[in-house]
Amino acid sequence: TMAPRRPYGLELLSLLLLGTCGFFQSYAVEVDVKDASNVTCLYAQWMMKFLIKYETNSSDYKNTSLDLTPTVTHNGSICGSDTQAALLAVQFGDGHSWSVNFTKNNETYRAEFITFTYNTNDTAVFPDARRQGPVTIVVKDGMHPIQLNNVFVCHHTTSFEAENVTQIFWNVTMQPFVQNGTIGKKESRCHADTPTAAPTVLPTVANVTTASTTISPAPTATPKPVENPATGNYSLKTGNKTCLLATVGLQLNISQDKPLLINIDPKTTHADGTCGNTSATLKLNDGNRTLIDFTFIVNASTSVQKFYLKEVNVTLLNHLNGSVILSADNNNFSKWDASLGNSYMCRKEQTLEINEDLQVHTFNLWVQPFLVKENKFSIAQECSLDDDTILIPIVVGAALAGLIVIIVIAYIIGRRKSYAGYQTL
Ligand SMILES: *[C@@H]1O[C@H](CO)[C@@H](O)[C@H](O)[C@H]1NC(C)=O
Ligand SMILES: *[C@@H]1O[C@H](CO)[C@@H](O)[C@H](O)[C@H]1NC(C)=O
Ligand SMILES: *[C@@H]1O[C@H](CO)[C@@H](O)[C@H](O)[C@H]1NC(C)=O
Ligand SMILES: *[C@@H]1O[C@H](CO)[C@@H](O)[C@H](O)[C@H]1NC(C)=O
Ligand SMILES: *[C@@H]1O[C@H](CO)[C@@H](O)[C@H](O)[C@H]1NC(C)=O
Ligand SMILES: *[C@@H]1O[C@H](CO)[C@@H](O)[C@H](O)[C@H]1NC(C)=O
Ligand SMILES: *[C@@H]1O[C@H](CO)[C@@H](O)[C@H](O)[C@H]1NC(C)=O
Ligand SMILES: *[C@@H]1O[C@H](CO)[C@@H](O)[C@H](O)[C@H]1NC(C)=O
Ligand SMILES: *[C@@H]1O[C@H](CO)[C@@H](O)[C@H](O)[C@H]1NC(C)=O
Ligand SMILES: *[C@@H]1O[C@H](CO)[C@@H](O)[C@H](O)[C@H]1NC(C)=O
Ligand SMILES: *[C@@H]1O[C@H](CO)[C@@H](O)[C@H](O)[C@H]1NC(C)=O
Ligand SMILES: *[C@@H]1O[C@H](CO)[C@@H](O)[C@H](O)[C@H]1NC(C)=O
Repeated sequence: TMAPRRPYGLELLSLLLLGTCGFFQSYAVEVDVKDASNVTCLYAQWMMKFLIKYETNSSDYKNTSLDLTPTVTHNGSICGSDTQAALLAVQFGDGHSWSVNFTKNNETYRAEFITFTYNTNDTAVFPDARRQGPVTIVVKDGMHPIQLNNVFVCHHTTSFEAENVTQIFWNVTMQPFVQNGTIGKKESRCHADTPTAAPTVLPTVANVTTASTTISPAPTATPKPVENPATGNYSLKTGNKTCLLATVGLQLNISQDKPLLINIDPKTTHADGTCGNTSATLKLNDGNRTLIDFTFIVNASTSVQKFYLKEVNVTLLNHLNGSVILSADNNNFSKWDASLGNSYMCRKEQTLEINEDLQVHTFNLWVQPFLVKENKFSIAQECSLDDDTILIPIVVGAALAGLIVIIVIAYIIGRRKSYAGYQTL
């Protein structure tokens, strides 16, 4: 489908089939726009998907996900110039399309607006839509200006939510205003890809990148991520005395259409909260995108005073405007309990069910919300899951029980045989 000598024509668009693990398939789009002299002026390769909330014919709202299809067309892309914006545009499936335009000045280029049109007449994606037809949303891109002739690369997943649509991108490589047909040798990586981005007090996040939520590894809907979350060390102080200690790796499991796993990055997570004698709250804030509050309570009614986890509140925010994407709270827990003055430890993965759509998975947990002495954890009470030694007596016991059953059966069979033998005589 090459269109030779067409000015501003697209010479190449290919779809690579990636992540072919069973039913989940992700397509990467590659677009190489050539100018009138047949050299590349705009290059992009990326992966994306969309989560869309739509109104059904029974007047409620449903979430669906829209993925790229194996066939994508690419009409309307434009090289751009000093005076005209560059445009990267693709069309896919039954009437869906996506585009982004770029402007430049002397030194930099930047993405301006993302325009996304989904067509609710696509019954495979919107089986029971109340209104059928195209819906277009336009979102201002939050991308930083990039040095001209640098290629923008972002392997991490970035997403943002606007007008009931969450747009998710990953493995992005793109460069508008390519000079002399040569893709830039210098890369500008997104913030999420930079391993050194770990200041405790983050700079203002609002305009940094298009990233709002870092999802690991990528929302290709594999049921389990390859990586467990990194373990973070968090603490609260009153004056210059540590009053709460927590070590934990955290992962959110959000059930949309397909499960979405979000790892909390300790490097970008700030701890805040309150200590108290009978109640303490640890508030974790991952880059003003994900907020998780843990509230611990002292139970004075038992003979030995114990503490336990009472409440967990999770809020996901849109970093572009701070609006709430998702908020869930459960104040009915009684988990992680240990005697007051001790700490609680559970190295294995545990699940806190906030509601049916949201779970928090914890890894390498060690927490002490009360009576921390000398900035150190006190003796730990471990969860039973961690106690492997209990398995050995169970196994030995089961083997012994099995042996006894075999002896009894053998005895019964033996008696039957001798009885039968006696009768024939
Ligand atoms: C453009 O360049 C490619 C290789 O770089 C070549 O295969 C193709 O024939 C060229 N097209 C035109 C119209 O010159
Ligand atoms: C970029 O696209 C948006 C949305 O279609 C449009 O409003 C805007 O004028 C475009 N910007 C430029 C510089 O063309
Ligand atoms: C849905 O709309 C698109 C574009 O408007 C059109 O091409 C397609 O044929 C429509 N499909 C159905 C099933 O109506
Ligand atoms: C672009 O460069 C010219 C000359 O180098 C300079 O006069 C002008 O101010 C620059 N414009 C911007 C927007 O930086
Ligand atoms: C909603 O749409 C579905 C699919 O077209 C249809 O089976 C169902 O009967 C509709 N329900 C109502 C209440 O119209
Ligand atoms: C988004 O969904 C809400 C229902 O949760 C609805 O009231 C609102 O009209 C929708 N907005 C758009 C732009 O579709
Ligand atoms: C992203 O790209 C890297 C290398 O280019 C590849 O190894 C990885 O599988 C890709 N991720 C996904 C989710 O396809
Ligand atoms: C493009 O080519 C011109 C002329 O050969 C050269 O001056 C310029 O530096 C080149 N630009 C890049 C980005 O390579
Ligand atoms: C973010 O960008 C907008 C416009 O691009 C600007 O008005 C606003 O001040 C910026 N916010 C910060 C915190 O830099
Ligand atoms: C901080 O700790 C030192 C001893 O380590 C103590 O002398 C000082 O008063 C404390 N400051 C505050 C504000 O608690
Ligand atoms: C969150 O945003 C507030 C104000 O916008 C800022 O002061 C604070 O540093 C941010 N926190 C993080 C963890 O980014
Ligand atoms: C949960 O946290 C969010 C954000 O901090 C807050 O707005 C909300 O009121 C909290 N919900 C409950 C039930 O505490």
